[in-house]
Amino acid sequence: MSFPDDRLRRLRRTPQIRRLVQESRLGPEDLILPCFVAEAISARREVVSMPGVFQETVESLLPVAQEAVELGLKGMILFGVPAHKDPRGSSAWDEQGVVQRALRGLRREFGDTLVLLADTCLDEYTDHGHCGILTATGEVDNDATLELYGLAAVSQARAGADVVAPSGMMDGQVGAIRAALDENGFSSTAILAYSAKFASCFYGPFRDAAECAPKFGDRHSYQMNPGNRREAMRELEMDLLEGADMLMVKPALSYLDLVREARDRFDLPIGCYSVSGEYSMLHAAAAAGAFDLRSAVMETHLSMRRAGADFILTYFAREICGWLKEDA
Ligand code: PBG
Repeated sequence: MSFPDDRLRRLRRTPQIRRLVQESRLGPEDLILPCFVAEAISARREVVSMPGVFQETVESLLPVAQEAVELGLKGMILFGVPAHKDPRGSSAWDEQGVVQRALRGLRREFGDTLVLLADTCLDEYTDHGHCGILTATGEVDNDATLELYGLAAVSQARAGADVVAPSGMMDGQVGAIRAALDENGFSSTAILAYSAKFASCFYGPFRDAAECAPKFGDRHSYQMNPGNRREAMRELEMDLLEGADMLMVKPALSYLDLVREARDRFDLPIGCYSVSGEYSMLHAAAAAGAFDLRSAVMETHLSMRRAGADFILTYFAREICGWLKEDA
């Protein structure tokens, strides 16, 4: 017996036909490059567990951005690695802080060519490594932390960030940052909310890169439990109601079901963050001969787009652009 639609292979016959009917695509404009900018180094330094990823200086970040522009990337997100850490993370809102200086430098060189995003959190800036300030008993104090996120976001906006991206998973952080930005004349600065951010082992290499591993305990009391799907939807919805402009799910690969659900439920731009451990994992497996790196990176990132991500934060952004150019 034969059905009229039993020949799906017709559209797989040649590369040209396959390309014509491809549903999800990956392009340079979908990608945002995460960058680390460090204060206490005099030259760029490769991150041990992330081959090809560097801590940059304010100066060495400029050629990286130049390359990003030439590759067609549209955005960069900055993480600061400050020289000075203290219990409150005060370098996070220092007008001469490393991210603030980097933002001013990029804005001066590149104008509006690149969308400049700044990660807004305290873990890189606190001496204990937690994402907020601590109570006397060593717990992260949600409400006291919100005020400091507001200070950090305003100072990043003042330095030229188009978008601030709160990643600390404090309740109310989007609302607090929106209010602080508006009160200080930055009503045009957008907020990308790391809404559903899970307590994940896949952040391991980032903690080397940003020198922000917690000195005690872990982040399970503020980041999400990997088993929780409905709760993730509540997080996304709360951020939307608090005034987020874009929502994000993080990590990417183990959470693509949530990217899809977020895409179906909400009409805001939805992003996902392919985190440091995903980068290291693909590199390590490719180095061990399990597969070819390029094929694995293209397949995983296309699957993020298929899941519904409008944009992807990924350490592979430059490599992907290079490969897309070769394919064109
Ligand atoms: C916190 C922050 C982290 C990442 C981005 N922002 C680390 C954490 O929560 O421990 C992880 C990103 C990655 O692994 O690539 N400021």
